[in-house]
Amino acid sequence: MGKTTLAVNLALAMVRRGLKTLLFDADMGMANAHIFAGINPKHTVLDVLHGRLSGEEALMEGPNGLQMLCGPSGLTELADLGAEDLARVTGELDRLMGGFDAVVVDTGAGISRVVMEYLRIADEIVVVVTPDLASSLDAYGVIKVAREAKVSGSIHLLANLVENEDEVAGVCGRIIGCTERFLKFTPNTLGAVYRDRALHDANQARRPLMLSGLGADSARRIDKMIPCLIKKPDRQTAAEPWSRMGMLVTGLRTTLNHHPRFRSNLREGTHNEYANA
Ligand SMILES: Nc1ncnc2c1ncn2[C@@H]1O[C@H](COP(=O)(O)OP(=O)(O)O)[C@@H](O)[C@H]1O
Ligand SMILES: [Mg+2]
Repeated sequence: MGKTTLAVNLALAMVRRGLKTLLFDADMGMANAHIFAGINPKHTVLDVLHGRLSGEEALMEGPNGLQMLCGPSGLTELADLGAEDLARVTGELDRLMGGFDAVVVDTGAGISRVVMEYLRIADEIVVVVTPDLASSLDAYGVIKVAREAKVSGSIHLLANLVENEDEVAGVCGRIIGCTERFLKFTPNTLGAVYRDRALHDANQARRPLMLSGLGADSARRIDKMIPCLIKKPDRQTAAEPWSRMGMLVTGLRTTLNHHPRFRSNLREGTHNEYANA
């Protein structure tokens, strides 16, 4: 929980650092990044899907010049895009990426085919995890699927809605214990965002904390994560000012049983591994 909140605020933190940033709301089932960002989009990715507009034409201006490709509100039947639609959206996104320094993708919950596709194209994958057991299981699940699919992006853990350092260590430690033991892999710990009334109130007021409450603890914590996510290019080799970056913010609810491709060893395997670690 907290994927959209973090995606919006991380994107705004990138803008503050002078990066031309795109926030793409890839949660077709429950698109709400525009709600938290405080804009009422005239166009959405639906216009792109239906061939009415190109990706560029569907871009909306968010706060501080953040560019947004918004999702359709309340259209749950689009939660799982068909292969053709998905290819169309990822194709547009791929094209759009070239014009930005940073792209933040806010995904829906679950390891669906759609989320998997974004995992593949992201350079940085941020797995949002809360102390809730179901969330930890899901986080381990997505790391496992991502590793099995040999995604090329770096995988980060972001602990959200935590109360203290012990809780951060507990939730990250347990997941990392599992990934090291069963996947021989250690995700990077990106940082933690505590349960923060200011963050929640900012969402409710539709004025992101990164605009309205820069002094708040969570705003500082979110901003501190940016250098780890944006890699400055090697001056000798890079033609562009910044290396192309796609970032995906995800946290998961387990919806694996809808997806036979991933069902095989994951659901039981994952839960057993986690339970026995
Ligand atoms: N660190 C936090 N502190 C307080 N409230 C939070 C925090 N992170 C998320 N929330 C609240 O939790 C709810 C769900 O957050 P959201 O970003 O929509 O999650 P998701 O996109 O994963 O479904 C929202 O009401 C949001 O304000
Ligand atoms: Mg969300």
